[in-house]
This record gives sequence, C-alpha cells and structure tokens, in this order.
Amino acid sequence: MSPDIKSIRACVIGLGNVGYPTAAHLRKHGFTTCGYDVSKTKAMSVNPFPAYSKWDDVPESDAYFICVNTDWRNETPNMSNVFDVCRKIAQLRHDTRPLVSIESTVSLGTCKKVATFFDSVHLVHVPHRFWSKEPQQHGVRQSRVMGALNKESLEIGQQLYSALEIPLYPVSSLEVAEMTKIAENAYRFMQIAFSEQLRLTCEKHGMSFEEVRNAANTKWNISLLDAREGIGGDCLPKDIRYLNFLLENPLLKGAIEVDRLYIKHIARKQRSCDNNHEAFLNQNVVAQ
Ligand SMILES: NC(=O)c1ccc[n+]([C@@H]2O[C@H](COP(=O)([O-])OP(=O)(O)OC[C@H]3O[C@@H](n4cnc5c(N)ncnc54)[C@H](O)[C@@H]3O)[C@@H](O)[C@H]2O)c1
Repeated sequence: MSPDIKSIRACVIGLGNVGYPTAAHLRKHGFTTCGYDVSKTKAMSVNPFPAYSKWDDVPESDAYFICVNTDWRNETPNMSNVFDVCRKIAQLRHDTRPLVSIESTVSLGTCKKVATFFDSVHLVHVPHRFWSKEPQQHGVRQSRVMGALNKESLEIGQQLYSALEIPLYPVSSLEVAEMTKIAENAYRFMQIAFSEQLRLTCEKHGMSFEEVRNAANTKWNISLLDAREGIGGDCLPKDIRYLNFLLENPLLKGAIEVDRLYIKHIARKQRSCDNNHEAFLNQNVVAQ
C-alpha cells in the first residue's frame, strides 16, 4: 500500500447494485479507480471508470473492494465468488502489500479463509448496508462496521474509509463484523415475519391488521413493521439462513416458515382476486 492514501489505485470487483456505486464513489473522491466483473454487460456499460471483464486486463491495484454476490445454495452458504476473486488477487505480484476489503455479505469464517490465500495482505471486512431506494441517505456513505485481520489492516482500512467519508464502527475481529451483518439482516427478517404472522392471525379473526398495528405502535417501545407481499430481495432471506446455519434454532426457522406461509397466502388471495375479476368480466360480456 502506498503511504499517500489518495494515490491509492483502487479496483472494485463485482459491478452490481453495490459495486457500481462503490466504484463511482471512489472515483468521485479522487482515487484512480477501475472495475472488474465477469459479466461483459456490467463491465462494458457506460462507467465513469475503466472496467474489465477479463482478469488479465485488470491493472495491479493497491486496494481491492470485493462486491460480488454471495449465495445460498444446496442449504449451504455459497462463497465461491468471493473465494474465486480473492484467489485471483492473491496470484498477482504486488510491489507493496495490497488492501483487500470484503464488502459482500459473507458467512462466518469466510474472511479468515480468504486470509490463508495470501502470503501477505491487509484484510478488512466492511459489509455493505446499501439500500438502493434511498441512495443518498442509505447508500455507500452510511456508517458501517469494520473488522480487520490485524491492527495494521484496521489502521489502513480506517484511513482509506475516512478519505471516502464513510463513518466506521470498528470491531475486534473479522468474525464479529461477519456476525454483525448477518444478525442485522436476520433481525430485520424476524421483525417483518412477526408482522406477517400477526396479519394472518388478524385476518383469520376478521380484524384489520392495519388498525391493530397502528394501535400497537402508539406505545413508546413498539414499532411494528408493515406486512406486504412477503420478504423479497436477495439479502434478508439469504442472511437469516446464514445465521440459522451456524446454530439451527426454532426462532429463525419459525420466521422463515412464517414468511413461506405468508407468501403462499398472498398468492392464494391474489389468485382468488384474479378469478373474481375474470368472472366479473365474463358476466359483463354475456350481459352485453
Ligand atoms: N443489493 C443490496 O442492496 C445489498 C445491500 C447490502 C449488502 N449486499 C451484499 O453485497 C453483495 C453484492 O450484492 P449485489 O446486490 O451488488 O449483487 P449483484 O448481483 O447486483 O452484483 C454482483 C456482481 O458481481 C459479479 N460477479 C459475480 N461473481 C464474480 C466473479 N467471480 N468475478 C467478478 N465478478 C463477479 C456479478 O456478475 C455481478 O455483476 C452480496 O453479498 C449482498 O448480499 C447487497
């Protein structure tokens, strides 16, 4: 790593929902920035920075920001994209020790495993909290947790993220950062699942969930969330499973099951709505 933080050459790997704005943010803050994505479409779209889809074209960099997607496959966390790109970085010859910042959400133990790929590396885990619907308030610049391989990595990571104006909450290890991220999303999942369960119960008893929710939320320490069409997106359903994978337990399993039943219920309601609508249209055609 170069001692002059602003002269660092940055490379963002994975130019999707999280990686693209991260690279744009680095560029905006004056860093020499490039991007790499296995998807040609992502790499070749109009970017305010050079982007590559062939690894051999990626220039040597001082800091790598890993923003590839992580998965839940065959009932197991799948970190293959993270391992793939980190192995590639480890095989490059670097004049100075690079910083690798893992911003993807990863399962417990992933970052320590990544560290074993390198002879020498500065490694931090700074999981993203990106919320694409509010990019200003909850985009790249919001406060984040940072765990590090060692003291030196933490210091370098802090300098870099401070230059990027991203407030940090440092924790004592990579594992604490990993666990914090999946706990945040699992907790959010459970809050929504509670509302889904309550909505099902209210409907069964002929009551308005909205009325009950609004009434309960008048209490100072209650904040029931809305229950809409089920817990979508890639992150919450995946991350609660990462947590449950560590220690299977009835609380998380129950929340996952409630969401599954709720989605089925919504689909059934929608089908019956569609059928009624179709019957109504058919009736009117006959009547005409
Ligand atoms: N989307 C969000 O709002 C959000 C919020 C917080 C955290 N996260 C986490 O951030 C990570 C990325 O999420 P995302 O929504 O940006 O995913 P995404 O699918 O939008 O983008 C990931 C990109 O990585 C690329 N990629 C995959 N494997 C690669 C490889 N081996 N080499 C190079 N490129 C590769 C894909 O082609 C894709 O363009 C995930 O771990 C996710 O859980 C996402």
